[in-house]
Amino acid sequence: MKGILFDLDGVIADTAVYHFSAWRQLIKKHFNCDLPDELEVKTKGVSREDSLTAILSYLKIDISEEEFEALAIEKNQLYLQSLTTMTETDILPGIKSLIDDCKSKGLKLALASASKNGPIILDKLGLAHVFDAIVDPSEVRKGKPAPDIFLAAARQLDLLPSECVGLEDSVAGITAINTAGIVSIGVGGPELNHAKARFETTKDVTLEKIEKVFKR
Ligand code: BG6
Ligand code: MG
Repeated sequence: MKGILFDLDGVIADTAVYHFSAWRQLIKKHFNCDLPDELEVKTKGVSREDSLTAILSYLKIDISEEEFEALAIEKNQLYLQSLTTMTETDILPGIKSLIDDCKSKGLKLALASASKNGPIILDKLGLAHVFDAIVDPSEVRKGKPAPDIFLAAARQLDLLPSECVGLEDSVAGITAINTAGIVSIGVGGPELNHAKARFETTKDVTLEKIEKVFKR
Protein backbone atom coordinates (compact mmCIF):
# COMPACT_ATOMS: atom_id res chain seq x y z
CA MET A 1 0.00 0.00 0.00
CA LYS A 2 1.61 3.21 -1.19
CA GLY A 3 -1.21 5.71 -1.64
CA ILE A 4 -4.56 6.77 -0.20
CA LEU A 5 -7.16 8.37 -2.46
CA PHE A 6 -9.63 10.52 -0.56
CA ASP A 7 -13.10 11.58 -1.46
CA LEU A 8 -13.91 15.01 0.00
CA ASP A 9 -17.61 15.59 0.73
CA GLY A 10 -18.68 13.26 3.54
CA VAL A 11 -15.16 11.88 4.09
CA ILE A 12 -12.93 14.85 4.85
CA ALA A 13 -15.67 17.41 5.53
CA ASP A 14 -19.30 17.18 6.55
CA THR A 15 -20.44 18.93 3.38
CA ALA A 16 -22.65 16.14 1.96
CA VAL A 17 -25.60 17.56 3.94
CA TYR A 18 -25.02 21.06 2.54
CA HIS A 19 -25.09 19.78 -1.04
CA PHE A 20 -28.47 18.17 -0.61
CA SER A 21 -29.99 21.00 1.38
CA ALA A 22 -28.94 23.39 -1.43
CA TRP A 23 -30.75 21.14 -3.95
CA ARG A 24 -33.81 21.08 -1.67
CA GLN A 25 -33.92 24.88 -1.39
CA LEU A 26 -33.46 25.31 -5.14
CA ILE A 27 -36.18 22.83 -6.13
CA LYS A 28 -38.60 24.21 -3.56
CA LYS A 29 -38.09 27.75 -4.87
CA HIS A 30 -38.42 26.95 -8.58
CA PHE A 31 -40.83 24.00 -8.68
CA ASN A 32 -42.45 24.05 -5.20
CA CYS A 33 -41.54 20.37 -4.71
CA ASP A 34 -39.96 18.58 -1.74
CA LEU A 35 -37.14 16.14 -2.46
CA PRO A 36 -37.33 12.80 -0.63
CA ASP A 37 -34.35 11.57 1.45
CA GLU A 38 -33.83 8.63 -0.93
CA LEU A 39 -32.65 11.05 -3.64
CA GLU A 40 -29.70 12.11 -1.48
CA VAL A 41 -28.03 8.72 -1.92
CA LYS A 42 -28.42 9.09 -5.70
CA THR A 43 -26.79 12.53 -5.81
CA LYS A 44 -23.91 11.69 -3.44
CA GLY A 45 -20.57 11.46 -5.21
CA VAL A 46 -22.21 12.43 -8.47
CA SER A 47 -21.28 15.63 -10.34
CA ARG A 48 -23.40 18.78 -10.08
CA GLU A 49 -24.82 18.27 -13.57
CA ASP A 50 -25.52 14.55 -13.11
CA SER A 51 -27.19 15.31 -9.76
CA LEU A 52 -29.50 17.87 -11.36
CA THR A 53 -30.32 15.43 -14.17
CA ALA A 54 -31.22 12.75 -11.59
CA ILE A 55 -33.41 15.19 -9.63
CA LEU A 56 -35.25 16.47 -12.71
CA SER A 57 -35.81 12.96 -14.00
CA TYR A 58 -37.20 11.91 -10.59
CA LEU A 59 -39.59 14.91 -10.71
CA LYS A 60 -40.32 14.27 -14.40
CA ILE A 61 -39.50 17.89 -15.18
CA ASP A 62 -38.20 18.88 -18.61
CA ILE A 63 -36.30 22.17 -18.98
CA SER A 64 -34.18 23.94 -21.60
CA GLU A 65 -30.38 23.81 -21.63
CA GLU A 66 -30.25 27.46 -20.54
CA GLU A 67 -32.57 26.83 -17.58
CA PHE A 68 -30.49 23.78 -16.64
CA GLU A 69 -27.31 25.80 -16.62
CA ALA A 70 -28.92 28.61 -14.59
CA LEU A 71 -30.20 26.12 -12.00
CA ALA A 72 -26.77 24.51 -11.66
CA ILE A 73 -25.20 27.93 -11.09
CA GLU A 74 -27.84 28.91 -8.52
CA LYS A 75 -27.42 25.60 -6.66
CA ASN A 76 -23.71 26.29 -6.37
CA GLN A 77 -24.36 29.79 -5.03
CA LEU A 78 -26.66 28.34 -2.35
CA TYR A 79 -24.07 25.68 -1.54
CA LEU A 80 -21.23 28.21 -1.29
CA GLN A 81 -23.30 30.31 1.15
CA SER A 82 -23.33 27.37 3.55
CA LEU A 83 -19.51 27.20 3.42
CA THR A 84 -18.83 30.80 4.48
CA THR A 85 -18.29 29.90 8.14
CA MET A 86 -16.27 26.76 7.43
CA THR A 87 -12.95 26.41 9.28
CA GLU A 88 -10.45 23.71 10.29
CA THR A 89 -12.90 22.62 13.01
CA ASP A 90 -15.16 21.27 10.25
CA ILE A 91 -12.76 18.46 9.34
CA LEU A 92 -14.63 15.24 10.17
CA PRO A 93 -13.50 13.42 13.35
CA GLY A 94 -10.40 11.25 12.96
CA ILE A 95 -9.47 12.51 9.49
CA LYS A 96 -6.70 14.91 10.56
CA SER A 97 -4.93 12.20 12.56
CA LEU A 98 -5.42 9.71 9.71
CA ILE A 99 -3.78 12.19 7.31
CA ASP A 100 -0.93 12.83 9.78
CA ASP A 101 -0.35 9.08 10.23
CA CYS A 102 -0.31 8.57 6.44
CA LYS A 103 2.22 11.38 6.08
CA SER A 104 4.54 10.04 8.75
CA LYS A 105 4.46 6.59 7.09
CA GLY A 106 5.43 8.19 3.78
CA LEU A 107 2.20 7.32 1.99
CA LYS A 108 1.18 9.47 -0.95
CA LEU A 109 -2.18 11.22 -0.74
CA ALA A 110 -4.56 12.29 -3.49
CA LEU A 111 -7.93 14.00 -3.61
CA ALA A 112 -10.41 12.30 -5.94
CA SER A 113 -13.51 14.43 -5.48
CA ALA A 114 -16.24 15.15 -8.02
CA SER A 115 -16.54 18.63 -6.55
CA LYS A 116 -15.31 21.65 -8.47
CA ASN A 117 -15.19 23.38 -5.07
CA GLY A 118 -12.53 20.97 -3.76
CA PRO A 119 -9.60 23.41 -3.68
CA ILE A 120 -11.70 26.15 -1.95
CA ILE A 121 -12.80 23.69 0.74
CA LEU A 122 -9.30 22.27 1.31
CA ASP A 123 -8.08 25.84 1.72
CA LYS A 124 -10.74 26.63 4.33
CA LEU A 125 -9.88 23.42 6.19
CA GLY A 126 -6.14 24.20 6.14
CA LEU A 127 -5.47 21.03 4.15
CA ALA A 128 -4.46 22.49 0.79
CA HIS A 129 -0.79 21.54 1.28
CA VAL A 130 -1.22 17.91 2.39
CA PHE A 131 -2.18 16.31 -0.92
CA ASP A 132 0.45 15.16 -3.42
CA ALA A 133 -2.20 15.30 -6.16
CA ILE A 134 -5.61 16.91 -6.53
CA VAL A 135 -7.52 15.61 -9.53
CA ASP A 136 -9.43 18.31 -11.40
CA PRO A 137 -12.87 16.71 -11.97
CA SER A 138 -13.45 18.81 -15.08
CA GLU A 139 -10.43 17.12 -16.69
CA VAL A 140 -11.87 13.65 -16.13
CA ARG A 141 -13.89 12.14 -18.97
CA LYS A 142 -16.56 10.25 -16.97
CA GLY A 143 -17.67 11.03 -13.43
CA LYS A 144 -18.35 8.53 -10.62
CA PRO A 145 -19.56 5.72 -10.75
CA ALA A 146 -17.06 5.45 -13.66
CA PRO A 147 -13.55 4.64 -12.38
CA ASP A 148 -11.84 7.51 -14.25
CA ILE A 149 -11.24 9.93 -11.35
CA PHE A 150 -9.65 7.25 -9.13
CA LEU A 151 -7.50 5.96 -12.01
CA ALA A 152 -6.38 9.55 -12.64
CA ALA A 153 -5.58 10.00 -8.93
CA ALA A 154 -3.39 6.87 -8.85
CA ARG A 155 -1.69 7.94 -12.09
CA GLN A 156 -0.98 11.43 -10.73
CA LEU A 157 0.69 9.82 -7.71
CA ASP A 158 2.75 7.62 -10.05
CA LEU A 159 1.20 4.53 -8.51
CA LEU A 160 -0.65 1.49 -9.80
CA PRO A 161 -4.32 1.13 -8.80
CA SER A 162 -3.31 -2.05 -6.95
CA GLU A 163 -1.00 0.01 -4.71
CA CYS A 164 -3.81 2.30 -3.54
CA VAL A 165 -6.78 2.43 -1.22
CA GLY A 166 -9.81 4.68 -1.85
CA LEU A 167 -12.02 6.20 0.85
CA GLU A 168 -15.64 7.03 0.00
CA ASP A 169 -19.04 7.79 1.54
CA SER A 170 -21.10 7.33 -1.64
CA VAL A 171 -22.54 4.36 -3.52
CA ALA A 172 -21.28 5.78 -6.83
CA GLY A 173 -17.82 6.36 -5.33
CA ILE A 174 -17.40 2.80 -4.03
CA THR A 175 -18.44 1.44 -7.42
CA ALA A 176 -15.88 3.74 -9.07
CA ILE A 177 -13.08 2.56 -6.75
CA ASN A 178 -13.97 -1.12 -7.22
CA THR A 179 -14.11 -0.77 -11.01
CA ALA A 180 -10.69 0.90 -10.92
CA GLY A 181 -9.22 -2.20 -9.24
CA ILE A 182 -8.49 -0.23 -6.07
CA VAL A 183 -9.21 -1.44 -2.52
CA SER A 184 -12.36 0.38 -1.42
CA ILE A 185 -13.21 1.55 2.07
CA GLY A 186 -16.70 2.86 2.71
CA VAL A 187 -17.63 5.32 5.42
CA GLY A 188 -21.35 5.17 6.07
CA GLY A 189 -24.36 2.85 6.13
CA PRO A 190 -25.17 -0.55 4.61
CA GLU A 191 -25.71 1.02 1.17
CA LEU A 192 -21.89 0.84 1.02
CA ASN A 193 -21.70 -2.92 1.56
CA HIS A 194 -20.12 -3.31 -1.89
CA ALA A 195 -16.94 -1.79 -0.39
CA LYS A 196 -14.13 -4.16 0.60
CA ALA A 197 -14.56 -2.85 4.14
CA ARG A 198 -17.02 -0.43 5.69
CA PHE A 199 -16.90 1.75 8.77
CA GLU A 200 -19.90 3.59 10.22
CA THR A 201 -18.12 6.92 10.78
CA THR A 202 -14.80 8.60 9.99
CA LYS A 203 -13.84 8.20 13.67
CA ASP A 204 -13.64 4.45 13.11
CA VAL A 205 -11.16 4.71 10.21
CA THR A 206 -7.52 4.41 11.30
CA LEU A 207 -4.38 3.72 9.26
CA GLU A 208 -3.89 0.47 11.16
CA LYS A 209 -7.36 -0.75 10.12
CA ILE A 210 -6.81 0.37 6.51
CA GLU A 211 -3.53 -1.60 6.41
CA LYS A 212 -5.32 -4.71 7.68
CA VAL A 213 -8.05 -4.39 5.01
CA PHE A 214 -5.41 -3.93 2.30
CA LYS A 215 -3.58 -7.12 3.35
CA ARG A 216 -6.77 -9.18 3.51
C1 BG6 B 1 -19.48 15.39 -4.66
C2 BG6 B 1 -20.75 15.41 -3.85
O1 BG6 B 1 -18.38 15.27 -3.82
O2 BG6 B 1 -19.37 16.58 -5.43
C3 BG6 B 1 -21.95 15.61 -4.77
O3 BG6 B 1 -20.89 14.20 -3.15
C4 BG6 B 1 -21.76 16.87 -5.61
O4 BG6 B 1 -23.12 15.72 -3.98
C5 BG6 B 1 -20.43 16.78 -6.36
O5 BG6 B 1 -22.83 16.99 -6.54
C6 BG6 B 1 -20.14 18.03 -7.20
O6 BG6 B 1 -19.89 19.10 -6.36
P1 BG6 B 1 -19.76 20.62 -6.79
O7 BG6 B 1 -19.17 21.27 -5.55
O8 BG6 B 1 -18.84 20.67 -7.96
O9 BG6 B 1 -21.11 21.10 -7.12
MG1 MG C 1 -18.53 11.99 -0.80
